[in-house]
Amino acid sequence: MTANLEEILKTAPALVAQAITLAALDEARSELLGPRSEVARFRSSIGELDSSERPRAGAELKRVTTEIQSIIDARRAELAGDEENRRLEAETIDVTLERVHLATGSLHLIQQTIDEIVDIFVGLGYRVATGPEAELAYYNFDALNTPPTHPSRLESDTMYLDWGAPEDEVLMRTQTSPMQARWMEEHEPPVYVVVPGRTYRLDTIDASHLPAFHQIEGLAVDEGLQFSDLKGTLAHFAREFFGPDTEVRFRPHFFPFTEPSAELDVSCFNCDGGEPDCRVCKGAGWLEMLGCGMVDPHVFEAVGYDPETVTGFAFGVGVERPAMVRHGINDIRHFVDNDIRFLRQF
Ligand code: DAH
Repeated sequence: MTANLEEILKTAPALVAQAITLAALDEARSELLGPRSEVARFRSSIGELDSSERPRAGAELKRVTTEIQSIIDARRAELAGDEENRRLEAETIDVTLERVHLATGSLHLIQQTIDEIVDIFVGLGYRVATGPEAELAYYNFDALNTPPTHPSRLESDTMYLDWGAPEDEVLMRTQTSPMQARWMEEHEPPVYVVVPGRTYRLDTIDASHLPAFHQIEGLAVDEGLQFSDLKGTLAHFAREFFGPDTEVRFRPHFFPFTEPSAELDVSCFNCDGGEPDCRVCKGAGWLEMLGCGMVDPHVFEAVGYDPETVTGFAFGVGVERPAMVRHGINDIRHFVDNDIRFLRQF
């Protein structure tokens, strides 16, 4: 009998170790100590023993049961720990998990430059408008006091979409200036408006020319506007865009729709005019920035404004050039090459 108990005790550790869940351990326990186990049978057989043998058998039974129970208890603690860990692992949210990175992109440098320039004029109270890129020859040229013989109207300079009389001749606008006429036709003075947009010319592509580029037009019409208003406004723009120490100079020029007309130069922000081999101004000390002038009375007449009661000034600034100058970009084609290494820098 006692030997039999000893056998059972020997098999217990392996049997218990086989149980890998708490439920399996319960089964092992009932196999070892349950009502139908060898141990249970031993227990009930004690009563049949001779009274002198009973105490020893009882003590043996107690020792073996206690030992098996402690093996089971140890395994139970192990399994409970495992199960707890498994549950924790399954339920854990790893807040350090890396999120999926979706590239969000950014605005093209040309758009950033447009926004920046437009913002400067919005700060002065200007409104913002846009107009058609496919434009009538009438608005691009005739309403802007540009005679039919003007060289810029040539087929070699301007992309025509349709031929005919100026009223229905369609072209890709060569400048944003046609919006001057369109805006004045639709609005009474005073006018303070800027018009950013794309413009087109039949230029051969090289380091400083693209057939499609951008301009921002400006127009101010009010009672009593003078050339000094034009100068003050554009000097403010130049200082906002290129820095507070920027100086401006106005050179006489010709545009059909302004009289007098001028070109605005800004002092070189890179060398201040002091370096003969400056990479930005090449030693000139000045950078050509935009065309401007006082609105020609013929333009007012074309849109139904009275040149005796209102005066105004206008300007047209390219977008690519100031962006190139400011960021040291030496080839205009970078803007359209779509090279992500270039675009990512801005
Ligand atoms: N449209 C002219 C150009 O493309 C620039 C310009 C000059 C615009 C004088 C103006 C202006 O409004 O007054 O060269």
